[in-house]
Amino acid sequence: MSRKIIIDTDPGQDDAVAILLALASPEELDVLGIVAVAGNIGLKQNAINARKVVELSGRTDVPVYAGCSRPMRRTLVTAEHVHGDTGMNGPVLPDPTIPLQEQHGVDFIIATIMNNPPKTITLATLGPLTNIGMALVKEPAIAERIQEIVLMGGAYFEVGNITPAAEFNIYVDPEAADLVMKCGAKITIQPLDVTHMIQATPARLNAIKALGNKSGAAVHAMLTFSEQFDLKKYGWEGAPLHDPTVIAYLLKPELFEGRVCNVSIETASELTVGMTVADYWHVTDKPRNALYLRSGNAEGFYALLTERLSRLP
Ligand code: BDR
Ligand code: CA
Repeated sequence: MSRKIIIDTDPGQDDAVAILLALASPEELDVLGIVAVAGNIGLKQNAINARKVVELSGRTDVPVYAGCSRPMRRTLVTAEHVHGDTGMNGPVLPDPTIPLQEQHGVDFIIATIMNNPPKTITLATLGPLTNIGMALVKEPAIAERIQEIVLMGGAYFEVGNITPAAEFNIYVDPEAADLVMKCGAKITIQPLDVTHMIQATPARLNAIKALGNKSGAAVHAMLTFSEQFDLKKYGWEGAPLHDPTVIAYLLKPELFEGRVCNVSIETASELTVGMTVADYWHVTDKPRNALYLRSGNAEGFYALLTERLSRLP
């Protein structure tokens, strides 16, 4: 039986690849809906980008919702410097024709969790955690009904990518991330410590382009755009690939390794706000609230991604 998931996202080239990976895997993943959140770019554009990706995949049966347009307490920080002025620069994709759902994304998340049997809905989050934080505030009863939250966010051993201490998704809405970490649901974290190992080298990108389909060409064009910033920054052979690791974990958890420990979010310090403090060595008695992944098998990941993309138009 396939696992029911909601994808919460701010696409974002790497979000787009994650969405494609999920939509190419219907035997394992039943994507009930995609919810946009403000992050890499503003909410309106993210909701457009999400619909473009859905149409690219041919899975126009999957509804797209818009969630929150700004973080819970802070001013929105965006990342055009990485993703371009559309948030998803690279390929030329047609304007979407599928409608944006009228229901607010936060209400869709709550209703889906409350109207399905307990522990049957997984949240796969690829952006700031605002929508999930707001859903927890509006209907706290969702917490114990969530099957799992698998999120891309945070960093500990690799430290920050938007500040020296903080990863972008957590930094944008640390109050929401703090609520999520404390909510009691099962949480799995894909931090930069993993995604920095999953490098999109030229050989791996060329293999995706060589698939010869529209989706492979679009992924190649997207990642060729977004890698520019990271290649310059890190000087590596390939840029990190972040959000698709969330979907890869749902498909093949054996590709990743980590441990259950306490993960807390810094919300007060000006210097380190948005930092994910992982008690990886269990030096405190704080509750072990998350599976903190620390490494991933890049060869296995790209084999999976490339094979799944080959199934799409
Ligand atoms: C995260 O930040 C965003 O820019 C990416 O889409 C990813 O979700 C990586 O820090
Ligand atoms: Ca993202």
